[in-house]
Amino acid sequence: MDEIRTLWWDRPSGDLRYIDQTLLPGEYRIRPCADPENLVLAIKTLAIRGAPALGVAGAYGVALVAKACRALGHDEALSRIIAGAAGVASARPTAVNLSWGVGQVLSQLEMVAGGDGADLYLAAISAADKVASADLQTCKDLGGCGATLLPGHCTVLTHCNAGALACSGWGTALGVVRSAVTAGKQVQVIACETRPLLQGARLTAWELARDHIPVTVIPDSAAAYLMARGEIDAVIVGADRITSDAVFNKIGTYSHAVNARHHGIPFYVAAPASTFDWQLSACSVVVEERRRDEVTGFFGRETVPASVPVRNYAFDQTPLDLVTAIITEHGVFSLPGDAEKMRAATGGRS
Ligand code: MRU
Repeated sequence: MDEIRTLWWDRPSGDLRYIDQTLLPGEYRIRPCADPENLVLAIKTLAIRGAPALGVAGAYGVALVAKACRALGHDEALSRIIAGAAGVASARPTAVNLSWGVGQVLSQLEMVAGGDGADLYLAAISAADKVASADLQTCKDLGGCGATLLPGHCTVLTHCNAGALACSGWGTALGVVRSAVTAGKQVQVIACETRPLLQGARLTAWELARDHIPVTVIPDSAAAYLMARGEIDAVIVGADRITSDAVFNKIGTYSHAVNARHHGIPFYVAAPASTFDWQLSACSVVVEERRRDEVTGFFGRETVPASVPVRNYAFDQTPLDLVTAIITEHGVFSLPGDAEKMRAATGGRS
């Protein structure tokens, strides 16, 4: 498979480069991003999206902040970088990876004792490069662990896009599919279209078709019917944040978990350790609410009366008791039996 690179640092220009995911599948365009303000805009508009990719974007965001501090002395540069990085970390609230990625680079910079702003800038690029390459390796490790769960011939239902485009490459939920296919298994994917921004129809379908992995798009509301018909062997989704009591992922995930339980179908969550948040419980997580116009129009036509309110939650919360197992780079953790092992492996204290 010719690998997708979602975002990377372009050394000659000193810019971040990324695939603009708002344009897919119609147009494949690489955009440059030269400053943190542009990065925040790309994140808010979902040109860069998906939890692990947001972690990498956060890491490079610190490098973009540091770029403007090159002429300063060490202490002033560091305090300005810390202040500027906070704006990147808060561009979207739900995926914990974004602030995690920012924190990974800041913690490296805090260890740079001497030098000046220019040295901090170089250190930030090198730390962010490490976050990006580690993310790709993590997805491959996670994919290998998850692939063992799938039978030789199967149909997997997924929601949103937890693929190469949502990470540095390979993917989490789709990384499991890619690893299984690489191991010789015959896997076909049912991609829920994922209202309202259609990450499943536009992005999951695009990247799987590009890799010649069989994929069929369904309306989100068709998932239960396909389960009832016996057409789904497993559900695999990604995650934006996993707390000790719930998985936060794209709106609609919770319904798939309820439906999977009703039909006796395994419901797997594939996510790296960086997506776990052992500090918060589900009730304290901020679930992003997005603009009404993402819901109220189709092809330039209004589809909801102007006087009627809309709720546009970007994510929902699935209780862990509906999750069969969580697939990480450290192994597969069946729930509830492996909960303590999972906590220890993913950075929580037991
Ligand atoms: O709003 P998005 O497109 O950023 O939402 C993305 C998701 O919900 C993904 O499923 C999640 O980030 C996991 S990506 C490996």
